[in-house]
Amino acid sequence: MKRLLEAKGLLVLLFALLLLLAACGSADESGSDDEAASDDTEQTEDGNDTEEQDSNDQAAEKLVIGFSQVGAESEWRTANTKSIQDAIKDAGHELKFSDAQQKQENQIKAIRSFITQKVDAIVFSPVVETGFETVLQEAKDADIPVFLVDRAVDVDDDSLWATFLGSDFVEEGRKAGNWLVEEMTDEEGPINIVELQGTVGSAPAIDRKEGFEEIIGQEDKFEIIKSQTGDFTRAKGKEVMEAFLKSDGDNIDVLYAHNDDMAIGAIQAIEEYGLKPAEDITIIGVDAVKGAFEAMADGKMNVTIECNPLFGPQLVDLIEQHFAGEELEKRIAVEESMYTMDQAEELLPTREY
Ligand code: AHR
Repeated sequence: MKRLLEAKGLLVLLFALLLLLAACGSADESGSDDEAASDDTEQTEDGNDTEEQDSNDQAAEKLVIGFSQVGAESEWRTANTKSIQDAIKDAGHELKFSDAQQKQENQIKAIRSFITQKVDAIVFSPVVETGFETVLQEAKDADIPVFLVDRAVDVDDDSLWATFLGSDFVEEGRKAGNWLVEEMTDEEGPINIVELQGTVGSAPAIDRKEGFEEIIGQEDKFEIIKSQTGDFTRAKGKEVMEAFLKSDGDNIDVLYAHNDDMAIGAIQAIEEYGLKPAEDITIIGVDAVKGAFEAMADGKMNVTIECNPLFGPQLVDLIEQHFAGEELEKRIAVEESMYTMDQAEELLPTREY
């Protein structure tokens, strides 16, 4: 009996020992033990621990991006807005969008509001070239990188923006001029041109004029007899063309419009006046929007110089590269082409904007 009791006592002791061991094992696995937790902390090259690095990666993954857009004045602009909005959202970033309705003061307000809201980055397409130094400096002081898109600013200090992604508007003007010179090789002149300019003070209006004049200025037979802004809109393009026709009527040989929307508005005015667009008056536009392809396929417009608005995905890549610490080129040009009437019918179904 005594032996039986001794054996039982040994068994109880053994069982208690096993329970103790099991409890120690589970504490190690869960890491709730202080010593284990501190041993598990990894150091990265820059001395950050893994948890801190993870939260940095998350910040780099999801950015808050403020986008100050010029307005909604043209087919081109609508396509450009959509391209940028879609690309930002598709990449999983948060977008704060502001339409300036072609007014500089609205853009300055929008950028200041983005700064107050502490966005990670600002995408900015300036209505006009000048007058943005102060607000760009404010963004820089707040450590918020600005990505200029589409239009440039006339500011000396290029440290105020991370990069500028957009078309070469001077080159677009040159292309328009070269096409006209070629087209009119056998014409004697004088060749009277009317010009519909874009928004006064905007980069595309200034540069497209400069590039065009550089080329046609090489031959005496070309003369710009009238030049006025149509603000990049169809309605204004039509209105100003009506005035041109009223004053110069049958003297007009060529219309050079700084965008297709104004050219399309002007085509309407020419038809209402009783002339045939693209026959009586040669029509040159810029942008290569669908509306221009339709007009060319209908035989009402001669040529459009491409200005590609679909650079949203390229822009988002650049923003992400910047946040990954890569050095960006200060100027990145969008590649573009030119399309004539005879290509319109075939290409129209393939046009994306
Ligand atoms: O800045 C690009 C220009 O702005 C486009 O050519 C025009 O259509 C738009 O409104």
